[in-house]
Parts: sequence; C-alpha cells; structure tokens
Amino acid sequence: MNKATGDWWKSAVIYELAPISFQDSNGDGKGDLPGLISRIEYLTWLGVDAVWLTPIYKSPFRDFGYDISDFRTIDSTFGSLEDMDRLIAKLHELGIKLILDLVPNHTSRDHDWFVKSSASRDNPKADWYVWAEPAETGAPPNNWLSRFGGSAWEWCDARGQYYYHSFLVEQPDLNWRNPDLRAAIADVMRFWLDRGIDGFRVDASAVLIKDHLLRDNPPAPKGQDKPPPQRFTPVFTDDRPETMRCIEFIREVIDGYDSRLLCGEVQGKTDRIGHFYGTERPRLHLPLNFALLDCPWDVLALQAAIDAYLNALPEGAWPVWVIGGHDKQRIASSIGQAPLRTLAMLLMTLKGTPFFFMGDEIGRERVHIPDDRIDDPFEKLVKGYGLCRDPERAPMRWDDSPAGGFTTGEPWLPLETDGARNVDQQRGDERSILHLFRSLIALRRAHPALQRGEYHPVRARNDVLAFKRSLDQSELLIVLNIAAEPRKFEGDCRGNVLLSTHLDWSTPAAQPISVLLRANEGLIIELDRP
Ligand code: NOJ
Repeated sequence: MNKATGDWWKSAVIYELAPISFQDSNGDGKGDLPGLISRIEYLTWLGVDAVWLTPIYKSPFRDFGYDISDFRTIDSTFGSLEDMDRLIAKLHELGIKLILDLVPNHTSRDHDWFVKSSASRDNPKADWYVWAEPAETGAPPNNWLSRFGGSAWEWCDARGQYYYHSFLVEQPDLNWRNPDLRAAIADVMRFWLDRGIDGFRVDASAVLIKDHLLRDNPPAPKGQDKPPPQRFTPVFTDDRPETMRCIEFIREVIDGYDSRLLCGEVQGKTDRIGHFYGTERPRLHLPLNFALLDCPWDVLALQAAIDAYLNALPEGAWPVWVIGGHDKQRIASSIGQAPLRTLAMLLMTLKGTPFFFMGDEIGRERVHIPDDRIDDPFEKLVKGYGLCRDPERAPMRWDDSPAGGFTTGEPWLPLETDGARNVDQQRGDERSILHLFRSLIALRRAHPALQRGEYHPVRARNDVLAFKRSLDQSELLIVLNIAAEPRKFEGDCRGNVLLSTHLDWSTPAAQPISVLLRANEGLIIELDRP
C-alpha cells in the first residue's frame, strides 16, 4: 500500500451531504445524483477532500433511507447505478473521495432477506434476523425499547415469534451472530468498494449485537425526565463486547482494499470512544466524535471537552471532530452566527479530521417545519421532546428564490422562508462565513502543521481558548475569543497573522506578548521561530 495516500483521511476535510436535500435535477422536489453531479463545482470551490452521502439505496424511506430494501440498487428517487458510477468518476477526476453509508444493523421490512426470514422458522434465512420466543404471558421477551418508542419487539404470526428492532418497527435488526449474514454484508461492502468508493460510515455500529440472554435493561437514573425510549439504560443492547468483533470483521473487509476509510457512528460517553478504535485488532479508523456539538459555548467547557476526548484516545489513534450531521441540531441555532465562525476555526485547526454537514458552511440554522410537513418518524413517534431532525435536513439554499435553486418543483421539506442566507449571496461576499470555511480549508492544506502537526494546549484564560500546532520548523498559534466582547490574549505571539475569523485582518497586528481579539474573534498566527 502506498503509505503516502493510504491514510489520506488524516489530512482530509469531510463534508456530509444528504443527496435528497442537495440538488434536484428532475423537478420532483427531491435531490438526486444527477443534481449532485451538477453541483460538484461547488464542492471543488469549497475545497473539501471527501464527501459522505447519507443512504441512496433502494428504500421505502420511512427513516431517511436508513431502512434499506436492497443494498445493491440505487433508489429511483436518486437515479441509477450508472449515475453512481458517473458520480464516483467525476469526483475522483477532481480529487474528491466518496464515502457511503453502510447500514449493517438492520434492513427495511421490505428487504427480500426479511420477507424470507419471516416466512417460517426453517428457511435458509430463518436466522438472519433477531428472533425470540414470547414471554410466558405471550408478551414481548423483555423490556427492551425501540429508539423510536415502544417495545423493540414486534410479533410475527407466521413464525409465532417476536423480532427485534432497535429503531422503527419497519427496520428489523439483522443477526450478526450468523456467519452467513456476516458474509452477505461483506459481499455488499465489496460490491461498493469494487465500484471505487473510498470508504464507509458505519451506521449504528455500537448496537450490532444484543445480549444473548435477553436480560432486561435497568431503569435509567432520572429516567422519568427523559423521553420514553431513554428510560432504561441500554446496558444489554448497546456497546456489547461482541459488537467489537463485528466491527473488526467489517474492518477486515475494508483492509482487503488499499486506502479506504472506515468511520462510524458510535454512542455513549467520551470515555467509551477509545475502544471503537481497537488495540490488538483494528476497528474503526474514525469513530465520530460529537464532543464539540454537545459542549456549552464556554471556554472552560470547551477546554475540558477537548482534553477529555483527546485523553480518551488510545496511543496512535487519530482524532476526529464533528460539528453537524443529519441527526444533530444545527449548531448555529444553539450558539449563534458570530460564535459559529470561531467554531469553524476551532474545527479546522484542532488535531484530527474535521466533519461538517451541508449548510453548516453558510451558517444554516434550524428550519421551521409546519406540523403537516413533518417527515421524521422520531418526531411523529416520540412527540414533545424536540427530537425532530427535519429542521436540519431541509434542502440546501443555493439562491434566494422561493425553492432556493434546489428544485423547480415543490421541495420535499420546506426551506427557510427568509432566503437571505444562501450560497450565491455568500459566494459574492468575501467576508461571509462561507468564505471563512473556504479560507480555513485552504489554509489547512497550505500548512501541514494544521493537518498533521502536534497539538499543544495553552492554558485558557480570560475567555480565550488557545493552542499550538507544530510540525518540523513550523509552529502555529490559534487563539479563539469565546466571549461576545473584546478579550486580550497574553502570551508569546510574535509572528504573522495568517487568518482572522473576521476575514479583514490586512496587516500583521499581533504584538510580541499579547494580542487584542475582537468579540468572537479567532486568529491563526504563524509564530516566528528563533
Ligand atoms: C442512525 C442514523 O444516523 C439515523 O438517522 C437513523 O435514524 C438510525 N441510525 C436508524 O437507522
């Protein structure tokens, strides 16, 4: 393997994109692959190194495509396999990698595997899903709950048994203890890897195996204050030791190919993240880390969250930072537009691979979705807890026209009514957040210390988060004012200011021993080396 490119993902900036909301090409109001291809120019202009697509496979779309009915077919909403081949070729021609979602934990109930498995107890696929006998009373086998509410067990007449579903009743869980099922998933992976994709993001990777004794989950502390599906702690359903063997198996398939990436959705607290990397046997290259998203916008909290995460990583593990995603509330809505610029600088300068979600780069906020337009089953089934994910998933706004340049038809989810925040407008404004993202990405590429350099924290004081990145003779100081008022950073800052989050710093202004930062301002300073 060519070492220089084998770990390309360490220096990459990765852009998550939901094709259904990116660009429509045929006026049906839903984004598709030809539409995405027509927007590749934007991706190259922005400078991202890789895109990760949410599922584009055949699906009844009860859960945003995470309910797959055929792993090898592109859903007709998005186009065809030929479109996918064109997309791969075009992206590669322009030096952009492509990551697809891999959903190994469950299928749609419409998948042929489930249709067969549920027909009887003795067919060749009988054991491909998680089946269990009822309790003596005929009730479900235990107290396990679906993430989307209610019992995680659903009765099947034909088999006289229950099947398990971590998520929707329409999403039965696959049985990862069955070697034939594992082999079938490996085949699916090879199908896509052979077509040239550069890796997978593994969906729900922490729940692949459930306790074989089917032991009840214990009540969660303060459970009554939580949404009903979270009232038990998922000790016997999530993050089981055997699940790690499954991730190792998936990694072996990936390692059969050169230079491919395996990243994955993991759950739980920061201190659990380390074991998703694997020590003796490799697991995920990049277990996604949402610490920045979950952290209050406060210098001490940020300093502690960064430190706790980095300390949780095993020796040699590569960090990863995520500031948005299709399941996560838009960070701009919680911290505000000005701090978002500082966060963008933090994301692009910390040691590790940055991930952001389409629209974050234009400062997208949560879009109001009227009740009668809600699509997300989470909101429909667990009402009243603010869990709806549609506000983040609404279509991209390319211009200020009513449908935002996204479609000529009726968008599948409404766009924000105020069209002012859009790509065209921000491309024309050199101080926009979009230009900041682009400048940060370009600066990262120009300064290997930002991509691969060591990270050295500087003690946070006076609302200023600071750290250094160094590689060979190059040392960069990053100072970020987390306050909405000016703050002074005191410390050695002799050097050149490479970038201010305000994008207006024309001359080097850092003083030898301090720098005055404007409200919410971040600076990247290339320090003079004696
Ligand atoms: C994780 C995905 O990110 C989420 O969107 C989905 O609802 C669940 N897996 C179930 O597939």
